[in-house]
Amino acid sequence: MLLPVMSVVTSVAGHPPATQKAPSTPTDLRCEYLVDPLGIDATAPRLSWEMVDSRRGAVQQAYRILVADDPDLLNADTGSLWDSGKVISDQSIQVVFAGQPLRARTRAWWKVRVWDQDDQPSPWSRPAHWTMGLLDPSDWQAKWIGDVTPAPANLGPLPAPMLRKTFNVAGDRHTVKRATVYVTALGLYELRINGRRVGDHLLAPEWTDYHKRVQYQAYDVSDLLQGGRNAIGVMLGDGWYAGKIGLTGIVPGGPPRAIYGRQPRLRLQLEIELAGGRTQTIVSDESWHGTTDGPIRVSDLLDGETYDARREMPGWDTPDFDDSSWSPVVIAAVFDPAGGPQKLVAQPNEPIRIVKELRPIGMTEPQPGVYVFDLGQNMVGWCRLTLRGRAGTVVTLRHAEVLNPDGTIYTANLRGAAQTDRYTLRGDGIEVFEPHFTYHGFRYVEVTADCEPEELSIDSVVGRVFHSAAPLVGEFECSSPLLNKLWQNIVWTQRSNMHSTPTDCPQRDERLGWMGDILAFAQTACFNMDMAAFFTKWVPDIRDAQTDDGRYPDFAPHPFDPAQRFSNVPAWGDAGVFVPWCAYRNYGDTRMIAQHFESAKRWVDYVHAQNPDLLWKNSRGNDYGDWLNADTLKLEGWPTTGAAMPKEVFATAFFARSTEIVSRMAAAIGRDQEAQRYAKLAADIRKAFNRAYVQPDGRIQGDTQAGYAIALHFNLLPDELHEAAARRMVECFQRYDGHISTGFHSTICLMNELTRNGYNDEAYRLINNRTMPSWGYAIDHGATTIWERWDGYVEGRGFQNPGMNSFAHYALGSVGEWMYRTILGINPDPRVPAYKRFIIRPRPGGGLTWARGSYDSIHGQIAVDWRIDASRISLNVAVPANTTTTVYVPTTDPTRVTESGIPAAQAEGVELMRSAEGAAVYRVGAGRYSFAADWTK
Ligand code: BGC
Repeated sequence: MLLPVMSVVTSVAGHPPATQKAPSTPTDLRCEYLVDPLGIDATAPRLSWEMVDSRRGAVQQAYRILVADDPDLLNADTGSLWDSGKVISDQSIQVVFAGQPLRARTRAWWKVRVWDQDDQPSPWSRPAHWTMGLLDPSDWQAKWIGDVTPAPANLGPLPAPMLRKTFNVAGDRHTVKRATVYVTALGLYELRINGRRVGDHLLAPEWTDYHKRVQYQAYDVSDLLQGGRNAIGVMLGDGWYAGKIGLTGIVPGGPPRAIYGRQPRLRLQLEIELAGGRTQTIVSDESWHGTTDGPIRVSDLLDGETYDARREMPGWDTPDFDDSSWSPVVIAAVFDPAGGPQKLVAQPNEPIRIVKELRPIGMTEPQPGVYVFDLGQNMVGWCRLTLRGRAGTVVTLRHAEVLNPDGTIYTANLRGAAQTDRYTLRGDGIEVFEPHFTYHGFRYVEVTADCEPEELSIDSVVGRVFHSAAPLVGEFECSSPLLNKLWQNIVWTQRSNMHSTPTDCPQRDERLGWMGDILAFAQTACFNMDMAAFFTKWVPDIRDAQTDDGRYPDFAPHPFDPAQRFSNVPAWGDAGVFVPWCAYRNYGDTRMIAQHFESAKRWVDYVHAQNPDLLWKNSRGNDYGDWLNADTLKLEGWPTTGAAMPKEVFATAFFARSTEIVSRMAAAIGRDQEAQRYAKLAADIRKAFNRAYVQPDGRIQGDTQAGYAIALHFNLLPDELHEAAARRMVECFQRYDGHISTGFHSTICLMNELTRNGYNDEAYRLINNRTMPSWGYAIDHGATTIWERWDGYVEGRGFQNPGMNSFAHYALGSVGEWMYRTILGINPDPRVPAYKRFIIRPRPGGGLTWARGSYDSIHGQIAVDWRIDASRISLNVAVPANTTTTVYVPTTDPTRVTESGIPAAQAEGVELMRSAEGAAVYRVGAGRYSFAADWTK
């Protein structure tokens, strides 16, 4: 699953003769989607692995799992916690641990072996492990602590507190058998022990509704402790808890910052196992000391960090530091009566961590003393700055996505997010600065100083890219440089918007988990990265923000009281249904569906209760509609009406689709009565939709590209109208001189429905288009990420309204889904989740001569590689062990298809099913296949 992808892709065509007699060692063992997670709180964790077997048709017929609380027992094939026995089953994902009850702190090692169709066993896998976290509130002896300095009444930013504690471990280094620290903060923390940083998490414990849930992290710190004196040092940042977050300014009477609380707090518990069975526990309590005299003078996610290196306290995180000037900390019991965090939960997803570094591709001086570094890519993270200069010199780094014509940075579109870091030099030689508690969306960094720093060069700046580190699982490449760039831009935009929540944008004062955006982008996101754990974290955020009467928020977490504002909007609220369903389709996660089902039902029930006649006329919140469709373009001569789907039609379409999904969710978890009830309701809404908005000739009210696209995509129309509706959808291009006019939600529907309804050439024409509005136009004008608006920048006209003009919004990048599904042809089977069964159906077009890529599904890697040479097409596919697929081999003559050089119908493991329009259709099992066929376009 996590192998570097391209090396595997290029080997698709190779067909080593299968000499294997039994499955190889299973790989990719994961627990709750993660590799060797520490401190989980799922008491019946789910395990998965990949069967490895290069033989055609290999399937898993049985498995056996051993789980032990001691690696030696596991080596001796003893499952002290669980021995599943040989289970006759082809299940290799979502296998629920069913052994001894798992208690807090349990350490579990596990391994698995599988048997193939001939009952031949694989070797045992290499051991994997997980540990349990603190499962019960009573497991926490630690108190919430913070700096004692009272916050002034104004809400201005405060210096970052530093807290520390020393303690003694009797004995020497070998006395410590094992040490685990459980830590969280209201705000953000950076934890250090004996002078070294603990873990590589950034912006931990991340963002939840702190009044309801706070995440904690667990780290193994056995190697950081020593016999004798030890020290723990923690720096706290304001983060989402006490800093500024998006949209605070527009909530009437609301505070501009400190939405959840005014000052950051820490809760930490270090548990040490010593030789001889002794234990020692160090907790955050009144014995700690704190100061706000440290170097971080201001830290804010949106505004940036101000750091005065002259205030550094070398050794502050080591035992010998003299902290006599520090004050005792305050115990922050105040939180509970004020509605403090109800619950501590283990972080279920990959942490935010550095995933890449970018070196500048250029450095200019557009004005004297103003240096602009170009990182060559719109990215998210911060810069590491290396420089030398006089003590007290203040160096300022301002971050921007684009430049003004004169080469200076353009910051108007950042609105109220300063994205500015300031560093004051110590003046003692080479200094390296990297912020701690902020993040910026930028390609360009402007560096200025109040007195010229020495040795500023292109090497002074490095871009450090970070995000919630869901593994990359998709790879795409084809003969069109434009489309390759588009795919890259989509992936970069996803990187830019995964910081604990799926955000709209990473740069301006917004950065919220806007639900409508991820609704549109979720499937593309899943093709690009393994989103399973990320959505496991975020779907509860949605529930936390649901109102008592069932309204889903516009964004989650929702810091502004969803009962009052920003809730129940069509296609935004509906993400509370669509996104978990998307996760289910990709990962087969019935537990997520079971936990979420009542919530999803309440949403649909709420909309239904407000709209008993089944047209969503009432209660549509801020009613954004098909956001940023082409009516919002500001172009000479461009039509200002005719693109936006009428909002009621749009809303009712989503109501129908969400209801349909709720019915399917019910079916997926065996709640058949509800499945029927909601299927009936969905059918009734579809009828009402057709009665109210659809004419007998298939015309849909509004007569927009978007309307046909969404109605077709959600299967709202009777079969007999599909053809007419699709034809009309294409006719709607005329008004736009052949251009796309769709918004956030209808764009991917349009692309998919063009292809599905026989207009694949039109879809290719749109994706290859380079005039406004199009993806190509943005790329030709320097885009390295997906723009929020089709016309974010227009030659001659310049930038769109800076009030809303992000250059890193992923919604219009939802076309990535189409690229995987149509160009590579990788498609889920509509009836079977998690790619246990899937469809490979590449549909060449648009002048492409080859394409190759892959998707590392939860069952293993699916790879596709096709090429057109003169009048032949070759199609190589790799199908993971223990899965089956239907392959559509594109051809003009289904009778002349070969596989590995012989007629396909005679090839081992290849079963001809039928000829479809333009393709011969085969069913194949696991393995690698090389098809070739006639192809004339
Ligand atoms: C955000 C969007 C979001 C929208 C709601 C904007 O400000 O950036 O992406 O979905 O508001 O219409």
